[in-house]
Amino acid sequence: MPLIAHAREHRLWVLTAADSSYVLRVGDDDLLYSLHWGRALTVEQAVSLLEYPPARSRSCEVPSDGVLDLSPAGQARYGHAGLQVRFADGARDLDLRYTRHRLTDDELVLSFEDSFFPLTVEAIYRVRAGSPAIERHLTVRHTGSETPIEVVRADSATWVLPELPDYRLSHAYGQWNGEGRLQRAPLAHGETALGSRRGVTSHHANPWAMIDDGTASEDQGAVYGTALAWSGNWQILAQRMPSDRVSLSLGSGHGAESRLLEPGEELSTPVSVGMYTEGGFGGASRAWHEYVRAHVLKHPLELRPVLYNSWEATGFEVSLNAQMALADRAAQIGVELFVMDDGWFGRRVDDTAGLGDWAPNPERFPDGLRPLIKHVHGLGMKFGLWVEPEMANPDSDLYRAHPDWIIHRPHRHRTRIRGQHVLNLARPAVAAWVHATIDRLLRDNEIDFLKWDMNRPLTEVGPLDERADDRLWSAYVENLYTILDRLRADHRALRIENCSSGGGRVDLGMLVRTDQVWPSDNTDAVDRLEIQHGYTQVYPAQTMGAWITASPNPWTGRESPLDQRFHVAAAGVLGVGLDLAACDEAELSRLGTLIARYKVLRPLIQHGTQYRLGTPGRDALTAVQYVASDESEIVVLAFLRSRRFGRADPALPLRALDPRARYREADSGRVHHGAVLLARGLPLDLPTGDQASTMIHLRRLGPDEEEQFAPIGVNPSP
Ligand code: GLA
Repeated sequence: MPLIAHAREHRLWVLTAADSSYVLRVGDDDLLYSLHWGRALTVEQAVSLLEYPPARSRSCEVPSDGVLDLSPAGQARYGHAGLQVRFADGARDLDLRYTRHRLTDDELVLSFEDSFFPLTVEAIYRVRAGSPAIERHLTVRHTGSETPIEVVRADSATWVLPELPDYRLSHAYGQWNGEGRLQRAPLAHGETALGSRRGVTSHHANPWAMIDDGTASEDQGAVYGTALAWSGNWQILAQRMPSDRVSLSLGSGHGAESRLLEPGEELSTPVSVGMYTEGGFGGASRAWHEYVRAHVLKHPLELRPVLYNSWEATGFEVSLNAQMALADRAAQIGVELFVMDDGWFGRRVDDTAGLGDWAPNPERFPDGLRPLIKHVHGLGMKFGLWVEPEMANPDSDLYRAHPDWIIHRPHRHRTRIRGQHVLNLARPAVAAWVHATIDRLLRDNEIDFLKWDMNRPLTEVGPLDERADDRLWSAYVENLYTILDRLRADHRALRIENCSSGGGRVDLGMLVRTDQVWPSDNTDAVDRLEIQHGYTQVYPAQTMGAWITASPNPWTGRESPLDQRFHVAAAGVLGVGLDLAACDEAELSRLGTLIARYKVLRPLIQHGTQYRLGTPGRDALTAVQYVASDESEIVVLAFLRSRRFGRADPALPLRALDPRARYREADSGRVHHGAVLLARGLPLDLPTGDQASTMIHLRRLGPDEEEQFAPIGVNPSP
C-alpha cells in the first residue's frame, strides 16, 4: 500500500507513517506549509483541514512565519529560516516557486526554483513502512553557469508542531564522563539552540529533541521526536513564536558555516528523522529503537559478543605477555571478544606520542600482532583492536613526514588537545592515506573488531585548499563516512565500536556505519545508570556498550558490589574492563557465573522491547525491563539506591504484561499473577545495604503449566 497520497487539485500530500500522518501543502503563495503532524488522516480527511480558517495577516505579523516545512529566508518572514543563501549581487531573499513533484510508494520529492536566480531546491521525504519515522533532507543546486551562490544555512528539516496547549522540550546535555543527561523543561518563547561547534557530535549535546505538551509521562502522552543523522557540527533550533506556533529546525553546521555552490554544483544535506508517537517518552524511545534496528543498523539481528577491554586494566602498560595472560583469564570467564586498547603501536607508551604510526611497537610486539591474535583465536575468542585513525601526535613519524596534513592555519598556533592534532580528512590525499593504512592493518592481521576512537575536537578550521568557504567541516565528516563505508564493504566480517572519548560522537550517522557505541568513559555503576537512561532515549540497548570495572571505581572512587556493577552493565552489551590479573579465583568464578547468566538473557536484552521504570538520579528505585518480541519472557534489572528505616522494600510495578497470565521467576520458581505484577509490583529480594540490585527473569506460563502450582502473587517478605 502506498505510504504517500496526493490530492493534486489541492497541491496536498499525506505521508502516513505507522499510526501517524504528516500533511504538506503548497499554498497559493508557492510556499510549502505543514498542515498536520499527528494522528493518521486519510487524504479526504486531510483536505478538510483546508476549511479551517487560516491565521490572518496583520500589520507586523505574517501567517507563514513559523509554520513552513520549507522555510526560505525572504519577504516579510522574520522567524528562523531553514534555508538561507546569498546571491552574487548580495541579495539574501529567496523567492522559491513550486515546480513539480515526484512520488513513489514511499518517497516524495517536491521541487522548487527561484523566480530569478539559478537555484533549485528539492525537499525529499521518505516514509519507512511499519515505522512512525519520516526522513527528510534537502538538495540545493546551482543551475547556472556564472558566479557561485553562497549557501549560508540549509537545514535538513523544519518540523512544524501542531498547536498544543503548551510545549515542553526534552533533550540531552552532558560533558566528558557525564554524557546523556536528560533535560525536560518548558520551551521558552524565542529561539532555543542546541548544537555542537566542535566538528564532532559532542559530549555536550546530542542531536535529537522531543516536544510534548507538558503532560506526557514515561508511559502516556503524545511525543514529537526529531533527530539528525550527522556526526559533525549541528544545530537544532527550537522556535516558539509569539503566536505560540513551534517548529524544530535541524541541520548540520552551528553558527556561521557557509558553502559556495559553484555553477552545476549540488549540496545534499544529511537526513533528519521525525516521528509522532503516543505512549509517552517510553513509547517514543521504543519507536526510535525499532527505527534504528530496522533502518539504521547494518547487522541488527546479530547478538553482540561479551567483550573484554584492556584499557582500565593496563592503561599504556601494554605487552604481549600481559595481554596474553589477560586473554587467558577472559576466556576462562566466558568472554567472546578480546579487545586490546591503546598502547600497542608506534612509540605509544603514553599519550604524547605515536598516533599516526599504525605499526605494532617493535619492543612490545617484536613479531607483530599475529602471535597475540593467534593466541586469542586459539582460546575461542574474537580479536579486537583500538585505533584512533583521525589523529597524529607531533611526536610521530607521520607528523614529521607530513606536518601539513593536520588541520591548521598559517599564522595561528596549532592547538594541541590530549597532546594530539586532527588529520585533515577533508583533503582527499589524507583521507586516502587513512583508509589505506587501516585497510592494510586489517588485511595483514585477522582483526575481527575495531574500537574506532576520536579523542579531540577540531580547531583552527579554515578554508579547504583554494575554496574560500567553510566546507572543511562537512567534507571531514563525509570523507570519514566514506572511509568507514569502504572498510565495511571490503571487510564484511569486521565489526566496529564507535568511541570518541566515550560518547563524543553518538548519532544516527555513525550508527549507520558502526555496530555499537562506547557511550561514556565513566564506568561508575551509579553514574552509569543516568548515562544509560539518557542514551536509551533514542538509541537501543543492543548498541550500548557497558563494562564491569574495578571497585572503587577509577573515576569516582565509589565502591560498588560486583553484582551491582554486573546488573548495570548487563542492561546493554556486556563487557568487562577489570584487571583480571588482579582478580582472585572467587571473583573470576563469580564473573563466569554472571557472564553465563547474561548470555542466556542476552537475546531478551539486546533484541527485546525496553521499558524504563523510574528515573535514575531522581527515584530511589529504578529498573529497566526487557520484554521478548513474543511477550513470553521478561527480564528486569532493578536498582535501589538507598533504603529508609521502617519502610519495606518497595515492589516494582511492571509494564506490558498480560493481566490474565501468570509468570514464573526462573530462579526462585515463584509464580505471580500478571495483574498483580502490573498493579502492585514485583517483590524484589534485594541484598541488604545501599546500592542493592537484582536481575529477575520471568517466564509466562503456558496453558499446560497453569494447573501445576499454587500461586503466591503477593510479596511474602515482612
Ligand atoms: C579514550 C577512550 C578510552 C580509551 C582511551 C585510550 O579516552 O574513550 O576508552 O580507549 O581513549 O587512550
